[in-house]
Amino acid sequence: MPTIPKTQKLEEIRKEALRLSGEKRTADQLMEEITTLLNAQMLKYNWVGFYMLEHSADPPVLVLGHYKGAMTPHTRIPLHQGICGAAASSGKTVVVDDVKRDPRYLACSLETKSEIVVPIYARGKVVGELDIDSHFPAAFGKEDRELIEYCAELVGKRLELP
Ligand code: SME
Repeated sequence: MPTIPKTQKLEEIRKEALRLSGEKRTADQLMEEITTLLNAQMLKYNWVGFYMLEHSADPPVLVLGHYKGAMTPHTRIPLHQGICGAAASSGKTVVVDDVKRDPRYLACSLETKSEIVVPIYARGKVVGELDIDSHFPAAFGKEDRELIEYCAELVGKRLELP
């Protein structure tokens, strides 16, 4: 089988994510399907999961939601900890090409080499994030980042619906 160029592959995944978000699904179902889609279709997306911000906790904490990949000990992450905490508290995407060199990194699996965390916004506020770990160093380039930010945006829009 011919190998599909990466740009084309990412475009197909983007379309599929859009299709999923347009169907009658709850935000929770959409998040589960996005973890499956990204983990199954992208060789380097070895752990794909959502953390949602629990505002009622004092102080607020990120709580693990749907994920695909190895079990993680980090099921609740305070906002001042980890790459996850950094992305949620700054409201900005964080890309780490080499997790060993980032002192904020909370280890999830010994195999993880790089990570991206993208905040999810609903009604102008960070409500959670999409976190992806890779067994490959510097796995998340510009195109990956754009795809993952798009998926986070779709979830944010779905969360805004009643
Ligand atoms: N590495 C993350 C913790 C979550 S695991 O990757 C699943 C962090 O540094 O916040």
